[in-house]
Amino acid sequence: MTKLQDVLDEIAREAAENGDRGEVAHYIPELAKVDPDQFGIAVALPDGQVLTAGDAETAFSIQSVSKVFTLSLALGKLGDSLWARVGREPSGNPFNSIVQLEQEKGRPRNPFINAGAIVLADLILAGHQPREAIGEIVRFIRYLADDDTILIDEKVARSETEHGDRNASLAHFMRAFGTIDHPVDHVLGVYFHQCAIAMSCHQLARAGLYLASQGRNPLTGAQVVPPQRARRINAIMLMCGHYDGSGEFAFRVGLPGKSGVGGGILAIAPGQASIAVWSPGLDPVGNSKLGTAALEQLARRMQWSVFGA
Ligand code: DON
Repeated sequence: MTKLQDVLDEIAREAAENGDRGEVAHYIPELAKVDPDQFGIAVALPDGQVLTAGDAETAFSIQSVSKVFTLSLALGKLGDSLWARVGREPSGNPFNSIVQLEQEKGRPRNPFINAGAIVLADLILAGHQPREAIGEIVRFIRYLADDDTILIDEKVARSETEHGDRNASLAHFMRAFGTIDHPVDHVLGVYFHQCAIAMSCHQLARAGLYLASQGRNPLTGAQVVPPQRARRINAIMLMCGHYDGSGEFAFRVGLPGKSGVGGGILAIAPGQASIAVWSPGLDPVGNSKLGTAALEQLARRMQWSVFGA
């Protein structure tokens, strides 16, 4: 039988030798400073083991990977009424696109494009001050990873706030349609801080384990979401988790996944594993270049694709 640790070591070795790493995100200046020559991978298994290779203990900015956790949190608060505010169809557009919002009357296509995630932040804000809502998101992620050391990188949050005109446009546009209830600066404050949460691959793989285990976190025994909800979140990750690169990711990797412009990807092999991979260099649509290649190889060698061996 293929030994998982051997596969991970080999993937990390090949990544270290690969010079074709893509470009780090430049539109958030603090992310542009990250050393592109890093690569980490961690696989959390339902029995609680976590196997790692490369820079798996280095914290990075999880960015849009946070949207998986805010979706889980917001669904817990609102249940299926959430879907009145946001759709669940792939957008086929870049993550920060505004074009569909006008045609579709301010209702974002899905919870993983920026517009959709901004709506989730608005929903989580209900009844709270922004600081409390941010605290709730961080506490939820710490609870998922069973790790109280997870923090927000305030420099990244500030950097994004200072260069957040595009997200501010999306938020104002949606507020004009009545899709979001709270003041735009409050909503964006929550959104920018959730994106600036820093986690290692090790922590991220643990945090995603409930999605590989029918909604139950085997590390703590907690039922985080009902099995049906875990299945549905995986479906949205598969269809929408890589924006206009989602089809390509499904074609190459065959797993539900969510990427972030910090270069992280959380991928779920249902019933098998929660996988976090990180390499800061991105492909032209904003997904980690080496991270995608690593997951392609891992899924193939472990026969984990949801579409069969
Ligand atoms: O809103 C932004 O632009 C970033 N905070 C998050 C974008 C992101 O990670 C998109 N993922 N590939």
